Amino acid sequence: MTISQDSSAGPLTVVILAAGMGTRMKSETPKVLHRVLGEPLIEHVLRSAQPLEAQKTVVVVGHGREQVIAQLAGTYPQVETVIQEVQNGTGHAVAVTLEHLGETPDGAVLVLAGDAPLITVGDLHDLVAAQAGVGAAVLTAHLDSPDGYGRIVRDSQGNLEAIVEHADATAAQLALTEVNSGVYVFDAQLLAQALSRVGTSNAQGEQYLTDVIGILREDGHTVRAVVTHAQNILGVNDRQQLSHVGRILRDRIVAKWQLSGVTIVDPQTTWIEAQVVIEPDATILPNVTLSGATSIATGVTIGPDCSITDTRIDREAHIVRTTASGAVIGAHATVGPYTYLRPGTVLGVGAKAGGFVEMKNATLGDDAKVPHLSYVGDASIGEGTNIGAATIFVNYDGVDKHFTHVGKHVRIGSDTMLVAPVTVGDGAYTAAGSVITEDVPAGAIGVARSRQRNIIDWVLRRRPGSTSAQAAVANSSSNNHSNEGSST
Ligand code: UD1
Ligand code: CA
Repeated sequence: MTISQDSSAGPLTVVILAAGMGTRMKSETPKVLHRVLGEPLIEHVLRSAQPLEAQKTVVVVGHGREQVIAQLAGTYPQVETVIQEVQNGTGHAVAVTLEHLGETPDGAVLVLAGDAPLITVGDLHDLVAAQAGVGAAVLTAHLDSPDGYGRIVRDSQGNLEAIVEHADATAAQLALTEVNSGVYVFDAQLLAQALSRVGTSNAQGEQYLTDVIGILREDGHTVRAVVTHAQNILGVNDRQQLSHVGRILRDRIVAKWQLSGVTIVDPQTTWIEAQVVIEPDATILPNVTLSGATSIATGVTIGPDCSITDTRIDREAHIVRTTASGAVIGAHATVGPYTYLRPGTVLGVGAKAGGFVEMKNATLGDDAKVPHLSYVGDASIGEGTNIGAATIFVNYDGVDKHFTHVGKHVRIGSDTMLVAPVTVGDGAYTAAGSVITEDVPAGAIGVARSRQRNIIDWVLRRRPGSTSAQAAVANSSSNNHSNEGSST
């Protein structure tokens, strides 16, 4: 469905304020680059604004600008940045932006705060719609503890009159619980005119964007207020608030997937990043983190205790206690527990990467199995092959990585070292404990270990009186006794 915002309200310019210092974060990282659910705060704001299809999106940067500019160049290259050299207030930040744009843009300007990541697309659509045909619209909310926020002052008819900052408010105004979210839509021309009249005679000596609202009202323009949920306007000022908004985002995403048909057993320990896609009838057990471009097909069970990043999991696969990154897990495959799948791992249909197995840049064919305690790096393993416990693919000679090919229906014996580059042909075997340095032809068995020799009574001679020697003596005499009664 397309929302017909463009035809009704005209073109939109989005301005995101992100020049502030974020002192209370106590961080070398600019506040808007602190991450929740894997993404910088400002990118959550950008995601919410994206469906509005603004003609232009501008981020105002100041403190830590190099880092913010570099981050956005990678993730949102179409977004412009404008530098506010000195942070003279929110009104100043928007004035600097309009100057940067040159001509005042047509249509409306949506102003957002880069540190308030819980704003929803719905809030923004409502606000844009409310501004159509009037001077401005402000997003507000009622807060139990409005401390620090600008208060919404209404006249006796309930019409919005002005916004008064906490530091400048009278005792009566401080008692008001409806606050300014810091999100507004303005008619662009009226905004530009009003900004030129905003002064700095206030408690903080700054140009307040909030003063634009009072100026528009004095000039007889209508300003609408759109009231939203208190939660949606929360901003981040310190790291407690950072984790608080993170939990809210987590709960929202979990709820969305639950309502779409995914079983999520323990929402509080399930962290699903925004880009992840999950089909109905997948089941997610406690303590699971799904990150990046991960996709999970129907019938999959994942967890407990998994961290999955940039990984595709096909239908009916079963993953337990696993860390996976950049992997593909085929349908009906089983993985875990205590398994580490690194980039380039591809598991075929019905394949198994079992307990304490690490894989990297390796393909495991359909129904092939690496059941226990193995390292598989830089390898292809054919369908139906079984890799014995504690097999190591020796892929690194200290300088270069080398590749190992293992054919179909191969039986690699336990504790085999496959020293790459090496090839084991279809249907071949290797003997347990072998160090395979040469190719094994199809159908052959590779045996590469020294023959065993037993030195009889070594313990009795070299460790006399030890518990081992005593056990050996007791064993031989009991064998002698049983032999006495035996007729064989
Ligand atoms: C602002 C509002 C207040 C509202 C609150 C909501 C003003 C004067 N007050 O107050 O009514 O309740 O937001 O959170 O606008 N910024 C710049 N350049 C500047 C100053 C700020 O880019 O010169 C950015 C900050 O980085 C931040 C945003 O603007 O992202 C808000 O600034 P902040 O100083 O946090 O405003 P508040 O005092 O919280
Ligand atoms: Ca301030």
